[in-house]
Amino acid sequence: MNILLVDDDPVTRKVMGINLKKWGHTVIEADNGQTAWDHIQANPVQMVITDWMMPIMDGIALCQNIRNGRFAHYIYLIVVSALDSKPDVVHGLQAGIDDYLIKPVDMDMLKARIAIGNRIIGLEQNLVGQFDTIQKNYFQTIRMIAQLIEVFDEELGGHCRRVGRMALKMAKRHNNIDKSDWPIVEAAGLLHDIGLIGLPKKILVKHETEMTGDEKHLYRTHPVQGEIILKKMEFLLPVSRLVRHHHEQINGKGYPDGLQGDDIPLLARIISACSIYDSLVHKWKIPSEDMPERLRLMAGYRIEHALIEHLLAMHKESIESEKNTSFQQVKVENLREGMILAKSIRRNNGALIIPRKTELNGFTIEKLRRFIQIASIQDQVFIYKSANEDNMTQSL
Ligand SMILES: [Fe+2]
Repeated sequence: MNILLVDDDPVTRKVMGINLKKWGHTVIEADNGQTAWDHIQANPVQMVITDWMMPIMDGIALCQNIRNGRFAHYIYLIVVSALDSKPDVVHGLQAGIDDYLIKPVDMDMLKARIAIGNRIIGLEQNLVGQFDTIQKNYFQTIRMIAQLIEVFDEELGGHCRRVGRMALKMAKRHNNIDKSDWPIVEAAGLLHDIGLIGLPKKILVKHETEMTGDEKHLYRTHPVQGEIILKKMEFLLPVSRLVRHHHEQINGKGYPDGLQGDDIPLLARIISACSIYDSLVHKWKIPSEDMPERLRLMAGYRIEHALIEHLLAMHKESIESEKNTSFQQVKVENLREGMILAKSIRRNNGALIIPRKTELNGFTIEKLRRFIQIASIQDQVFIYKSANEDNMTQSL
């Protein structure tokens, strides 16, 4: 275990340090709280054993800084002090420390207390591991649902996949979105149109202005349908709320609730902006050079000005990035998940199978292998050389 030993008395440090090393720990020494605080912010430390009364920064201030700081793992704090009155001990414990020992310290007692700390650190690591597993399962479940959308309708599935990725990218560059919301916005992007499953294809290919009254009515139920599907799973409840609102408009003329401006959740506004952008590129095939003008026309009524600025910046970056992207030929048998198609794959008769810029997944790779078996396509495809997760161009 990495232990930071903090004491302004070199003799105490020496005696305790010798014992800690003898018990198998790695020991880093500091002679006051400030030096210790500087060290701990740049180096991994699992336990701090600190004196209370020290110059520059005392042990309690150090412990308070650690508890208020953001560290990847729990840091176990033991204060060792000559202050032995009950109020002192209580004050020390209230500062967020885990254990308190009174000087002079009995080494057997110290060893036993460190063992307790070690056990708690182990439990915390276990918990972190389990949380990681839960989070992995969460994303696998969401990706599985997104793949089901793709099985139902490839274009719709591709749209959802790209919106998920783009919404995450936009959330990361937005100043008002906390890191903890990133998985929610990504999931909502991946699943935002799940309510369209089951709607006739002839409706899905139309623009809303081309739909009949009944078709439009049916189409406009999809945000609520999506919410109903997703909210049955408790862990998708926050996602379902965003799905409900992904067709609201900043001017209040969207649906289902006609929310206006900031009443629309920010994350839903992001999903909406990304979905509109993706449809312009992939469904309506708006030429890249016309996109800035098309986007600016929506500012203030469909999409708020700030998000339009993000879209414009991301669009520009994607064009720049595409200029610098090269591709290579890969045999279908060597394709891997995550690779991005640089050229559309078509049957030998010219029919489109998978459009360019699609990120390959297990489903699409398996599909290509089946086409190879029936000799309907060439056995080599073009993929981008560097499949960069953050490269919006490749996902568009
Ligand atoms: Fe939608």
